[in-house]
Amino acid sequence: MSDQDIELEARLTEQEYFEPPEEFVEQANVSDPAVYDRFDEFPEGFEEYAEMLDWNEEWDTVLDDSNPPFYEWFVGGELNASANCIDRHLDDRGDETAILWEGEEGETRHISYRELHEEVNEMAAALRASGVEEDEVVTIHMPMVPALPVTMLACARIGAPHSVVFAGFSATALSDRVNSADSDHVVTIDGYYRRGDFLNHIEKADEAMGNVDHDPEVLVWTRHDEPEVDVSDDYTLVADLLAEHEGEEVEPVSRDAEDPLFLMYTSGTTGQPKGCQHRTGGYLAYAAGTCNYVEDIKPEDTYWCSADIGWITGHTYIVYGPLALGTTTVMYEGAPDYPDKSRTWEIAEAYDVDIFHTSPTAVRQFMKWGTEHIEGHDFDFRHMTTVGEPIQPEAWLWYYQHIGGEDAVIVDTWWQTETGGHLITNLPAIQDMKPGSAGVAAPGIEPAIYDDDGEPVDAETGQAGNLVIERPWPGMLQTVYGDDERFIAEYWERFSDTDSNDSEDWVYEAGDGAVQATDGYYRILGRLDDVMNVAGHRLGTMEIESAVSEVDAVAESAVASREDAEKGEVPDVYVTLREGVEESEEVRQEIVESIEEGIGKFARPNEVIFVDDLPKTRSGKIMRRLLENISNGEDLGNTTTLRDPSVAERIRDQIHAD
Ligand code: WT7
Repeated sequence: MSDQDIELEARLTEQEYFEPPEEFVEQANVSDPAVYDRFDEFPEGFEEYAEMLDWNEEWDTVLDDSNPPFYEWFVGGELNASANCIDRHLDDRGDETAILWEGEEGETRHISYRELHEEVNEMAAALRASGVEEDEVVTIHMPMVPALPVTMLACARIGAPHSVVFAGFSATALSDRVNSADSDHVVTIDGYYRRGDFLNHIEKADEAMGNVDHDPEVLVWTRHDEPEVDVSDDYTLVADLLAEHEGEEVEPVSRDAEDPLFLMYTSGTTGQPKGCQHRTGGYLAYAAGTCNYVEDIKPEDTYWCSADIGWITGHTYIVYGPLALGTTTVMYEGAPDYPDKSRTWEIAEAYDVDIFHTSPTAVRQFMKWGTEHIEGHDFDFRHMTTVGEPIQPEAWLWYYQHIGGEDAVIVDTWWQTETGGHLITNLPAIQDMKPGSAGVAAPGIEPAIYDDDGEPVDAETGQAGNLVIERPWPGMLQTVYGDDERFIAEYWERFSDTDSNDSEDWVYEAGDGAVQATDGYYRILGRLDDVMNVAGHRLGTMEIESAVSEVDAVAESAVASREDAEKGEVPDVYVTLREGVEESEEVRQEIVESIEEGIGKFARPNEVIFVDDLPKTRSGKIMRRLLENISNGEDLGNTTTLRDPSVAERIRDQIHAD
């Protein structure tokens, strides 16, 4: 242990809770615990969030729960998300910066609300002119450039739900999502910068279009004035469309609160990703509400969430929530260690960032890089967030001391693609911080922990179990796009009485394990299903396995999660080869490439391990859990249900031979 580690350990043993600084509490958007009582008036409490928005038509029913789990929020209400994120700020804040963008190469753009209004209107006109209709899903495959939020908000303006696909996803992943959403329009870009290189991005669209079962129109943004790479003549350059529609304004379409705003595909326990469908009114209200109460965002703040807009965190906490509140949201195109490891702190200093939002993986990285990259950078956060994975108390304390200077609050926020916004989190001026715990239920949210038989365990007893949510909330997904049955099967069936029409009998299954300590704080233990969390990105083990099975040499495969000091979890791929095929570097390479092609480079395995058999139950089911124990150097545990326990033992001996 280094001296620094010893000091951290000592401090953590001494101190379990950390109080928010008085200065923070005095200025906080919400500091009176009465907020919880107001939200206990269910469902009316949530009107407080809806009232943060501008509605064209007031809702007449807060919650229609007559057909669970198809809940409807703010029924009868009408609004437009783009108008709420832009137009309504024009009078007071038109010249203030909405999006503060920094490109990897050092170029910057300060896009005021007025400029954002112009750009979004022109793009909305362009989309409409190219035939995008209300309710058509537009797939957007774009990196962290301003054109991405501009496209999203333009879609929202004309009532076309967007489906943003993270730029790191491969051509295959893109075509799967275009097919699943039946998108007639795909918006992409020629390329972008990553660690100093200009990456050709359009080639993914080129390849994907070959696998799309219909013929979508492809609209292409350019990273510079002219495309830097070849763009097919079949595609339309957005720049040309914008020139045709220069200065045009498009009236924001009044959307029903329940009309979908977007889809976000996420991994589940089967090979096919699920299109989580989010509604306009409830989602936007929840995004604005949590940005206000949890993120403590004020219009005059500079707020920086370092996530990628291609994931749900970026949707809610870079685009919709912050812009709905009229603040300045920072977007950075590139890598945090380019050109060197102080890039993050240079940006924080240059823009005088007040609120900083990142992942535990990033914190662990900063910690590994060392404090010398921070020193000398003059920034002062008042509020910091972590999200996406559990944060170890050691990393938490390091973040608190070295990034927060011991005078910023930290909120550890638990939520999911499906939940739209934070569900378990402290309100930073109200509860004390407790390193390693996400904290208490957000206002109006009813988490609970159930045992495997579906019985609630006693609250605040520290007993581990399945994390569930017992009551609906406005940010929740509406359904899995085009597949109501899967929606029920994935999230509700296990702990609900599915024959009942009484919403009390319906319980949302999060898929995570958790414990609630005697102080009421929840600690999240991680996924209980076949979903991994790699550096805060969700990956389905089945998805990886289905990519591996594309390789001819492979007979069978199983993916197990290995704990990793930096990324939290990483995938180990266990593979058996077909008769007559020898293990080789080429086969290993083929497997890695197949995963990169099927999902993306970010899903690359930690190790490919060739074995002669996989551990199976008597009914032939592969026991991944055992492989996980082996990957993590743990005891095998109970092997009595195995058809042949010696298989697992042999794999263990093979891997841990030394
Ligand atoms: C899964 C959801 C929505 C945030 C980005 C990830 C894990 C999320 C925490 C936290 C421990 C967390 C859970 C969850 N997770 N936040 N604060 N502490 N674990 O969204 O890809 O939908 O993944 O991330 O396992 O189920 P996602």
